[in-house]
Amino acid sequence: MKVLIIGSGGREHALAKLIRRSPRSPKIFVAMDYLNPGLAREAEETGGGWYIAKTTDPQAVVKVAEAVSPDLIVIGPEEPQFHGVSDALREKGFSVFGASQGCAEIEKSKVFARSLMWKYEIDGRLYFAAFKDVESAKKFIEYAGDVVIKPARQAGGKGVKVIRDTEAYLTNDRLEVKSNYVEKIFEEMKHYSDIDYKVLVEQRVEGVEYTAMVITDGDTILPLPLVQDHPHAFEFDIGPETGGMGSIQGPGWLPPFITSDEFNKTIKIVERVLEALQLEVRDRYIGAFAGQMMLTGVWGSTVIEFYSRFGDPEISNLVPIVESDFLELLDRAASRRLAGAKLEIDESVVTIVKAIAPVGYPENKDLASGHPIAVNEVGIREVDCEVLYASIELRADGVMYTRGSRAVEIVCKGRDYEEAYRRSELAIQHIKSLDGHPLFYRRDIGSQELLAERIRLANKVRNVYLAKARKGLLGKSLVWLPDRGIFENPLIGFREMRNV
Ligand SMILES: Nc1ncnc2c1ncn2[C@@H]1O[C@H](COP(=O)(O)OP(=O)(O)O)[C@@H](O)[C@H]1O
Ligand SMILES: [Mg+2]
Repeated sequence: MKVLIIGSGGREHALAKLIRRSPRSPKIFVAMDYLNPGLAREAEETGGGWYIAKTTDPQAVVKVAEAVSPDLIVIGPEEPQFHGVSDALREKGFSVFGASQGCAEIEKSKVFARSLMWKYEIDGRLYFAAFKDVESAKKFIEYAGDVVIKPARQAGGKGVKVIRDTEAYLTNDRLEVKSNYVEKIFEEMKHYSDIDYKVLVEQRVEGVEYTAMVITDGDTILPLPLVQDHPHAFEFDIGPETGGMGSIQGPGWLPPFITSDEFNKTIKIVERVLEALQLEVRDRYIGAFAGQMMLTGVWGSTVIEFYSRFGDPEISNLVPIVESDFLELLDRAASRRLAGAKLEIDESVVTIVKAIAPVGYPENKDLASGHPIAVNEVGIREVDCEVLYASIELRADGVMYTRGSRAVEIVCKGRDYEEAYRRSELAIQHIKSLDGHPLFYRRDIGSQELLAERIRLANKVRNVYLAKARKGLLGKSLVWLPDRGIFENPLIGFREMRNV
């Protein structure tokens, strides 16, 4: 069986590893934007091959597909979906695992996603307001209080500013920060012609984040184990938001801070969103879908955003634990035969993924790019971990160079978090910068201390949302507006946007 993977990063490398274990002994082909050494190797070792192509260009990808003639095409990232790559391939008759352009709107436009949840009254929705012009955004911001400001279009895991506004004496200074930031987003959103709303302002919530990924053929939904990503750049969740610095999973289907009731509620939300989405865009959803969630006092399971693909790095956590034929699951989804499919996982271990990135990421891509890196794979294997190649390119001189984002991921498992953590800390030492440019990673991911912190915070918000639920107040919250008083959210101008 021939499988063509579209995409260039760590998520695609993880997918290649999951796919190649299939008893169908697939030959793996890859269309990637740059020469990712990990993907190239998976392709070569399975007797497939690789192509350098602009993966967001439907015609370029169709050309590769026609040359390979694969039995299945798996689209990794969101950008090719946004550009209609899945649709172009399906039109040519290929069997494709990956959301269509219409369905991928759920990730591309955070305004569409939020609006959809309000229109269908789906649990876990937050108050929000969206803007097409700078002036009205800035005016709204003046009284918005404790909010999160986001680019309205998915911009690759960067650009969201969470501005905690709970100290009265800082309100004016924060207003300036918010206002400048709104201007900056409008400036950046000029690069995108495929979106009407530019800025999204939404209710800020607090709690514990987790990602619920599923595979779907449009009718059946197959949930994967929950994974927790760590979007902040630095230890203890400080620094700018990134595409994800690492993730933890297990043991089994749930991390220690989420209950099975919360998992079920989350899957219910995902189901309802997929149903509503397919109705709205009049298209079938085939591919991976994920809710990036937060357990909050407002709702319990609350939606931060959606992915129209597997989480990156969240999918990497599944590499050591999937026991089923993963290729078969993808293939069944692509051909609408997912009903009755099962995912078996090794429930006896936990997994920790850590990304390592060049200093400069995520705010200064130029500074973070072009640094030679060495990876001692033998050393990493000796401590029972695996390495995945992400934003790193093999050049003609035989050396790997950073491309400005998370360069390499290590994937470790253990019987418990202590063991997996110990291994991850050893494994990460085997990745070195060759020109002295510093690399950084998050030491705290998977640590006992951070885990204890998550459990404590989850218990705190759980007490609050359960009490609210008993009073029928789920989803309702009061906000404090400096100098104005306390209001229920809708009163301050957050509104239901019914523009879907
Ligand atoms: N409404 C919110 N309240 C609190 N934190 C939020 C909220 N929305 C986003 N965040 C934080 O910002 C991060 C990035 O936001 P997200 O919407 O996921 O954008 P991105 O597309 O950059 O991943 C989230 O992982 C979360 O930590
Ligand atoms: Mg996100």
